[in-house]
Amino acid sequence: METVVSGIRSTGNLHLGNYYGAIQNFVKMQHEYNCYFFIADLHSLTTHPTPANLHANVKSVLIEYLAAGIDPEKATIYVQSDVPEVAELYLYLNMNAYLGELERATSFKDKVRANPDNVNAGLLTYPVLMAADILIHKATKVPVGKDQEQHLEMARTFGNRFNRLYDSEYFPEPYAFNFSSNLVKIPGLDGKGKMGKSEGEGNAIFLSDSPEVIMKKVKRAVTDAGPTVENQTKPDEIQNLFDLMKVVSAPDTITHFDNLYNTMQIRYGDLKKQLADDMIIATAPIRERIADIAADADYLRKVANLGADKARESAQKTIKEVREIIGFKRF
Ligand code: TYM
Repeated sequence: METVVSGIRSTGNLHLGNYYGAIQNFVKMQHEYNCYFFIADLHSLTTHPTPANLHANVKSVLIEYLAAGIDPEKATIYVQSDVPEVAELYLYLNMNAYLGELERATSFKDKVRANPDNVNAGLLTYPVLMAADILIHKATKVPVGKDQEQHLEMARTFGNRFNRLYDSEYFPEPYAFNFSSNLVKIPGLDGKGKMGKSEGEGNAIFLSDSPEVIMKKVKRAVTDAGPTVENQTKPDEIQNLFDLMKVVSAPDTITHFDNLYNTMQIRYGDLKKQLADDMIIATAPIRERIADIAADADYLRKVANLGADKARESAQKTIKEVREIIGFKRF
């Protein structure tokens, strides 16, 4: 059975981008593959969270994983820092990761631009840690959104380089995966790019948002004065709302609003209300489970401990073999 690995950083509540880009696939894949889904708390250290914040965010991602339908009996759910073998593999892979290629990674360049005062080595070698996450379980499929595609390419590069250096075929090649065959990028409500935790207030719809908050955020989305010519191309901010509809609404609904737009009869208030209603319906089952799961500290502890044990068993096997390949021998 093929092995699947993916993770989400513990940097806040999960949003529709995380859900449709990643978690929805996790939930489907757990029935067909040997799955490892983790909470990337080591990755979140690049922005120096306080201990209290770090822990609260790890806990909320765990709760939201479970509320979204990841089943700890089917998939291994674990916290990245519970598996120190990941950090060991990261160290080995770092010896074969070069400054130039790391500096060229789009995510690194974006982070440098956004926060030039915090260009730390962890940020630079972020794709190496990600490769270690994947290679530690020798995964071949990695369910992620479009923004992670380059990181997957780098994971293949680092795995192949290790194989070549030690003349082995030890690591298989991991590929980004989405059931719909294309990787997705869910736009944010501001019409300027992807939905993200740090893209500004009101840009993201969180799985834990109440119906009232969802309605308020969608109503605030930017629109223009309306179409002035029949069948004209939609401006970005309007196309954006239609793109979000494609994610949560029925095809008939989209056709209906498309027709209204094309014949200049659209009322953006109606479009937004429909979009918000469909988002509320799409997230309802998850939202409703969050409070119950959050209240069950025993269950959360059990899930995290079970996952840590299972993930470590797999990781220890890999690290033992990697150590032998590298040439670490006991006297
Ligand atoms: P992170 O925490 O930024 O996002 C988690 C997952 O959600 C997806 N995603 C989106 N997909 C579509 N549209 C969006 N607007 C959107 N926003 C986020 C991301 O593509 C990702 O799949 N580096 C990773 C975490 C990670 C990881 C790994 C993933 C660490 N190690 C190993 C896979 C395998 C990250 O920062 O994702």
